[in-house]
Amino acid sequence: MRRKIIAGNWKMNNTLPEATSLVEGILNGLEQSTNITNRDLLDIVLAPPYPYLNLCKDLIKGKQGIYIAAQNCYSEEKGAYTGEVSAAMISSIGAKYVIIGHSERRNYFRENSQMLMKKVDLALKNNLRPIFCIGELIHERQSERHFKVVRQQLADTVFLMKENDFRRIIIAYEPVWAIGTGLTATPEQAQEMHSFIRQLIGVKFGRKTINNISILYGGSCNAANAASLFAMPDVDGGLIGGASLKAGDFVSMIETLSNTNK
Ligand code: 13P
Repeated sequence: MRRKIIAGNWKMNNTLPEATSLVEGILNGLEQSTNITNRDLLDIVLAPPYPYLNLCKDLIKGKQGIYIAAQNCYSEEKGAYTGEVSAAMISSIGAKYVIIGHSERRNYFRENSQMLMKKVDLALKNNLRPIFCIGELIHERQSERHFKVVRQQLADTVFLMKENDFRRIIIAYEPVWAIGTGLTATPEQAQEMHSFIRQLIGVKFGRKTINNISILYGGSCNAANAASLFAMPDVDGGLIGGASLKAGDFVSMIETLSNTNK
């Protein structure tokens, strides 16, 4: 069954005291909320910067359905790669997910499909579930090539996987023009692309797999627009940047997602 998932990607934000109070704020908000239904169908994921992974893991200890993700991992197993962090290290502190292929990493760090697939492979070997990001640039949408671009991104990466491995992936559709810009995809644009991705998964891997893959939307998704985006039938949740840095907003989005019918 497709699970509802909401993940907060903090990116390069927060000092240690800020990180602590954000997690405490989210946990308090969840405890006090009377507006969360079917909690067992929903996974909450926090993706702090590397230095706070362990702290966050300790803070969420014993809390149901809350998990830790890394924002990245390196594409080699171990060794002389000064400054890098391996999938094994991330897994060993108890994280369950890792974000791979975020457009900021593809763009600023020149991560290509081959490198991303090495990361996916290492993540799976170390029992981490990849949250794999895809999405088109603004000029690709404006020239109506967005479907073609997304299809190619999938064909070059996760569609090369074996079906059993692919089932452990979460897809995040993040149109690059919507990330951090305040320009959200309309619910209809998000639905259209999510449904397209789901059809491609069906053609490639078959019906059983379609029903196992969660597809998250990311890009200026916030407490004000989450309800209309999450209401879309093929939007299984969100990968949230800026709005995940405010405990109240993030909890409100969790409430919203929990109350959608899928
Ligand atoms: P914003 O929500 O800040 O637009 O970021 C989205 C994102 O990139 C999440 O990974």
